[in-house]
Amino acid sequence: MENEFLNIADKRTKATYELPLYKGTVRAMDLRQIKTGPEDFGVMTYDPAFLNTASCQSAITFIDGDKGILWYRGYPIEQLAEKCTFLEVAYLILFGELPTSSQLAEWVDSITHHTMIHETTKNFLEGFRHDAHPMGMFISTVAALSTVYPEARSVRDAESRKLQILRLIGKVPTIAAYTYRHSLGFPYVYPDNELSYTENFMNMLWKMVEPKYRANAALARALDILFILHADHEQNCSTNVMRAVGSSLADPFVCTAAAAAALSGPLHGGANEEVLKMLDEIGSKDRIPAYIERVKAGQFKLMGFGHRIYKNYDPRAKIIKWAANQVFEVTGRNHKLEIALELERIALEDEYFIKRKLFPNVDFYSGIMYQAMGFKPEMFTVLFAIPRTVGWLAQWQEMLEDPEQKIARPRQIYTGHDARDFVPMEKRSA
Ligand code: CMC
Repeated sequence: MENEFLNIADKRTKATYELPLYKGTVRAMDLRQIKTGPEDFGVMTYDPAFLNTASCQSAITFIDGDKGILWYRGYPIEQLAEKCTFLEVAYLILFGELPTSSQLAEWVDSITHHTMIHETTKNFLEGFRHDAHPMGMFISTVAALSTVYPEARSVRDAESRKLQILRLIGKVPTIAAYTYRHSLGFPYVYPDNELSYTENFMNMLWKMVEPKYRANAALARALDILFILHADHEQNCSTNVMRAVGSSLADPFVCTAAAAAALSGPLHGGANEEVLKMLDEIGSKDRIPAYIERVKAGQFKLMGFGHRIYKNYDPRAKIIKWAANQVFEVTGRNHKLEIALELERIALEDEYFIKRKLFPNVDFYSGIMYQAMGFKPEMFTVLFAIPRTVGWLAQWQEMLEDPEQKIARPRQIYTGHDARDFVPMEKRSA
């Protein structure tokens, strides 16, 4: 709103300031004028972990964490998950509007023709140990694409950017599938351009000696929905990394690798793998209350629960619960689901979780579904990284086109020593 101001009275100097409010925010640089004298640096903000700081303006994704709302470009996630394909949503996220049928056909065709990876990149994967974590292989191989496409450094060139975006979205399923095959010791399967994005991914994962891979339609649709749900989530940890690394004008391959590295942590995308370990550790429904007591005693977190923004049910978790049921119709019910449902029920009735507004997040049910589909837990975060690549790239592009953005470089509050003289070795004590 225009004409909204915040008055600040500085009790040190008795000066008062009128700071404009912009969309409910104060520009941190406006605080710099608040000084005790000409030598004073001026007031800064201190916000570890960005609890209350907007780092950018973005038109891509909207979340209302209290109401449990998620929109991509204004469209509710529920409608997109029900009516769209993943590549249609990818187009929406990247270009701002849903594609017409001819735009979608051209877009799908372009992505499909960028799915192959260079043979040297395939050979690069051979260097990993057989038991290397797929996420480590994924991160390193995405970074290695930077060496194959050195022209990607022209990040100010919109045409070049578009090409790299096609390459990345086309190639991440191939890399992901190759990391999986590598860990099994199976030969890599080349992309099949006649298949949809998700079906082709399944083909590269699971094709054996049959001449043509035929994906189960219900499983392919469920995976497509999962990809839609994971495509973007505004300024989360990995997206913030994508923007921060991109702000130095590094190429999009290394930026995406950095973002994927941030995603791999157990508090972020790595949580889906941790949920499965947790359900295994709990083992049976009767052991849930004791496990919850340990969570409440602060011994560890309940994985797949809680969110920085959502203080209500994560809308993605609701859709995943529905999609998981579609998968179980094909694969049969997974007994871990029973434990998860009971864990959720007990937690949602517990004062500790109610008081802190802790609800299941996207990672709580996704792992159970992935496991039912035949994925090993180590692959779960890679499955998150494939669709999130779209969001990272859209946010990266938006950052580069934003005239207000510069190299990301936070300030600090120095808490170390004052200046002191060097101490020679013989005078140092432990
Ligand atoms: N289990 C138990 N207690 C929790 C949990 C949890 N999962 N999450 C938060 N809390 C407690 C936390 O200990 C704190 O309690 P207190 O006020 O007594 O100190 C309070 O709730 C507020 O939590 P916070 O740590 O300040 O919240 P945050 O916004 O910094 O962290 C989070 C958000 C997602 C990192 C955290 O909820 C968490 O660690 N959850 C488990 C890991 C997880 O599921 N991550 C996936 C997130 S969603 C998808 C994604 O981002 O990739």
